[in-house]
Amino acid sequence: MNTLYFGDNLEIMREMDDQGVDLICTDPPFNSGRDYNTFLTDSKAQSKAFTDTWTWDDPAQDTRADIERRARTSDTYKALDTCLKGYDLVLQNAVSGNKGAMRAYLAFMGPRLAEMHRLLRDTGSIYLHCDPTASHYLKGIMDAIWDQNNRKKNEYFRNEIVWCYRGAGYPKKDFGRRHDIILRYSNGPQYIFNLDDIREEYAEATIERFKHHIGNKRKAGDFGVQKLNPLGKHPDDWWQIQPIAPSSKERLGYPTQKPRALYERMIEASSNEGMLVMDPFCGCGTTIDAAHTLHRFWIGIDLTILALDPMRRRLADRHGLEPSKDYEIHGYPTNMQEVHKLVRDEKKYHDFSNWAVTRLGLQPTKSVGDGGKDGEAHVGHITLWDPEEGQTTDTRILAEVKSGRPTITQVRAFCHVMDKNDAIGIFITIEPVSAGMRQIAADMGTFYHNNETFPRLQFWQIDDTYFENPSSLKDIIRLPAAWLAPMRRIERHFTDTQMTLLRS
Ligand SMILES: C[S@@+](CC[C@H](N)C(=O)[O-])C[C@H]1O[C@@H](n2cnc3c(N)ncnc32)[C@H](O)[C@@H]1O
Repeated sequence: MNTLYFGDNLEIMREMDDQGVDLICTDPPFNSGRDYNTFLTDSKAQSKAFTDTWTWDDPAQDTRADIERRARTSDTYKALDTCLKGYDLVLQNAVSGNKGAMRAYLAFMGPRLAEMHRLLRDTGSIYLHCDPTASHYLKGIMDAIWDQNNRKKNEYFRNEIVWCYRGAGYPKKDFGRRHDIILRYSNGPQYIFNLDDIREEYAEATIERFKHHIGNKRKAGDFGVQKLNPLGKHPDDWWQIQPIAPSSKERLGYPTQKPRALYERMIEASSNEGMLVMDPFCGCGTTIDAAHTLHRFWIGIDLTILALDPMRRRLADRHGLEPSKDYEIHGYPTNMQEVHKLVRDEKKYHDFSNWAVTRLGLQPTKSVGDGGKDGEAHVGHITLWDPEEGQTTDTRILAEVKSGRPTITQVRAFCHVMDKNDAIGIFITIEPVSAGMRQIAADMGTFYHNNETFPRLQFWQIDDTYFENPSSLKDIIRLPAAWLAPMRRIERHFTDTQMTLLRS
């Protein structure tokens, strides 16, 4: 069954059986040092999933210690450990700056590559998408892992593919950076390569040259000219495929989204229909979409549940696929048990609060100030038509999420933030709210719109009712109809309205 997992791919891959996957096409963070903040602004989730900066911190050192431990019993980890120790020398054992960042990044990537190697069948291949910041180091790691028992020559490295594209902006004193690197390795000598499926059209000039050549040879009575292949040209290891244009229909608003054509090419070349393709850093699902288009089975993993909404929309719009019916989702809350699982990891990933506020069509952020000692308020705007004024007005809406037992102090602090921001508010909990808290909400009064009044502060206690009937939320949270429509659509897709809100 096609499956999406949300969580850390290292933990998820370690649960999977050896040699079950035919092809891995994946695009991990690059250690680019960049913030991909076009999607979400100023949120903790973004800083986890959408920044590509690394530090040689405790978790990085723990990962290295774990690699060393595993090296005692595993040849793969032994090869990885040796390689990383070599890189430590190259990077001068740095603990800060670019070199410290690179050590941390390689400690992150190393074990994940080791697991990918284990998961691939002997006939399988991997395409690792990276860029020149780290591609040379990653290639060294892959050589170490893929060729660990092969001292004679590097047999498993197949290609370094250069993905070239056009783009805007040039560095002042360097050449324009206009390519990514895709490292292609096979797990054994019997790997799949469907040359005829990926042949390219010959360039006009090549055809003209060929015709001219044939003419000359004929005149000279020589008919031994090598023919052009009628199926097309053998492709080279540099690919010219344009990145997704800002106005492209393919664009989902997810940072770092790659063009589907690029991934279709890898999948066509290195797998057959009915085979299993995996992307352990799947983002908004480019590999998944390409694999489904080409009739392959698929597994996608991503750390952030914020990737699910665009991915779900894409799978529904392009392939008519519905979650639970046509594919499985793990790690995304579909019941209270899974909510509690997210809550346990809340400090690490903030997925619970991200999930909860996005159900309301709000943007996960803390840019409006702290709502309590350990709280943060998420923000959105409702643009409402005000018939009395004869114009639209922007109303601010804030949300605070509490994964533990809520306190009166927290609710008061939230009211304070609401007042400061002239906003209406939604206080989200999984534990019940007390009568005292309800009184505070009543004291906050109402707001008026289009001859209707709505409570200014409202509570949403997430429980099983929500999962049984997600649209029950509109009966719990009373908001003007203009806001409820986007909320309803969120249950089906990641809404365009939400994207507009995110950008506003
Ligand atoms: C460069 S993006 C992939 C973009 C993807 N190719 C697409 O077209 O949408 C890298 C992705 O890796 C995810 N990621 C980072 N660390 C991860 C981890 N430990 N486990 C799973 N996913 C992770 C990020 O959330 C991000 O979505």
